[in-house]
Amino acid sequence: MDTYYFDNGATTKVKEEVLNEMLPFLKEEYGNPSALYGLARYAKKEVENARQKVADLIGAKKQEIYFTSSGSEADNTALKGIAYLNKNKGNHIITSKIEHPAILESCAFLEKIGFNITYLNVDSNGFISLNELEKAINEKTILISIMFANNEIGTIQPIEDIAKIAHKNNIIFHTDAVQACRKYKN
Ligand SMILES: Cc1ncc(COP(=O)(O)O)c(C=O)c1O
Repeated sequence: MDTYYFDNGATTKVKEEVLNEMLPFLKEEYGNPSALYGLARYAKKEVENARQKVADLIGAKKQEIYFTSSGSEADNTALKGIAYLNKNKGNHIITSKIEHPAILESCAFLEKIGFNITYLNVDSNGFISLNELEKAINEKTILISIMFANNEIGTIQPIEDIAKIAHKNNIIFHTDAVQACRKYKN
């Protein structure tokens, strides 16, 4: 019987080239990059090389790239970090009703400590309305967080248009960067 796997948005088979890049670090070069011994210094150098490669891919500065151990950790860091840093500017965040729990739970936490969250509706195909997004923005809006590809229904949001609306209004835009980089790499 053939098996069809539909959960690649959550976890997927590692690509051959990724596995080959990682194997030396899993087998021999497993030093702690924060330590001082030889194995550690090599690991540190390679982590910094990887940071530069990721920065080049998206036109960012090396020091702007943070590695996290999971998507959920990245989402938590981004939302809570942006919220705390900008709390004097405003306390309003816009997201959608179909975000990953890492976003929705972070928003629920932020609501408890005084942030207001607008949860945009989606249509029957899972798309937000750009019109509704624009109407939801107010002078207290500090962040728009909309996922690139939905992990359950696969909807790919028009993130370029969402980013334009955010930038036009001087608001930070957060999305799922890995999938976004894959699409916009070229
Ligand atoms: C859009 C989105 N955000 C966050 C996550 C969470 O990532 P992780 O399972 O690495 O914590 C996923 C995983 O499915 C996801 O698809």
